[in-house]
Amino acid sequence: MWLFNSSIGRKVVMSVTGVALILFLTFHMSMNIVALFSGDAYNMICEFLGANWYAVVATLGLAALAVSHIVYAFLLTMQNRRARGAERYAVTARPAKVEWASQNMLVLGIIIVLGLLLHLFNFWYNMMFAELFHIADPLGNPADGYGYIKETFANPVYVVLYVVWLVAIWFHLSHGFWSAMHTLGWNGKVWFCRWKVIGIAYSTLLILGFLVVVLYFAIRPCLGCCA
Ligand code: HEM
Repeated sequence: MWLFNSSIGRKVVMSVTGVALILFLTFHMSMNIVALFSGDAYNMICEFLGANWYAVVATLGLAALAVSHIVYAFLLTMQNRRARGAERYAVTARPAKVEWASQNMLVLGIIIVLGLLLHLFNFWYNMMFAELFHIADPLGNPADGYGYIKETFANPVYVVLYVVWLVAIWFHLSHGFWSAMHTLGWNGKVWFCRWKVIGIAYSTLLILGFLVVVLYFAIRPCLGCCA
């Protein structure tokens, strides 16, 4: 089938799964912003997204999207390298107009996957996984997302790792958003530039939304907040 065998088919799968993952990130960032205002409200959302059947189905769907996106990224990279053959190293200088992010999508993707594994260990493993498999979680309440946020970002090592991870995601998205629209055909002369600007603006807002939560909970202990 063309979606599996052809280069354009694989790019379409990358684009559609990428856009779906951006939609998930938009929801996730908006949910996290709630933690800035109310711990109880945040934990109510976490309870709703706990080990309920609909949340487990959504998690499996999300995992399928992420795995397809990653597998197709490797397939496309291998295919491009094979197509270029021995020429791959003939020109190493970067053409002036090619963005750094576009040449390093795979490296950025690998940093993002490593960060995601750490993040899932910090939160998802102690929350949904612990609840599903009746494992004791460190805080004694698998729906206490607010408690896990406070605990994680009170550790400066995690703060630095999350900031690096979020910057890598910003680079990846700022190129990926535009590239997806290009592949899906919204690439007339005018829209070529517009999608670039929209992609950078959207990625910046999205990542700032995540960053503000990390930084707020990092400086919170210094502000003497107690709850
Ligand atoms: C930096 C700020 C972030 C915070 C405070 C945060 C917090 C959380 C929390 C509390 C959960 C568990 C929710 C639950 O099971 O009820 C979670 C799950 C998750 N997070 Fe994050 N997150 C952050 C950033 C991110 C980013 C940038 C990504 C993706 C690149 C991400 C991907 C995920 C995924 C895939 C899950 C599992 C979702 C599921 O079970 O369906 N998170 N996060």
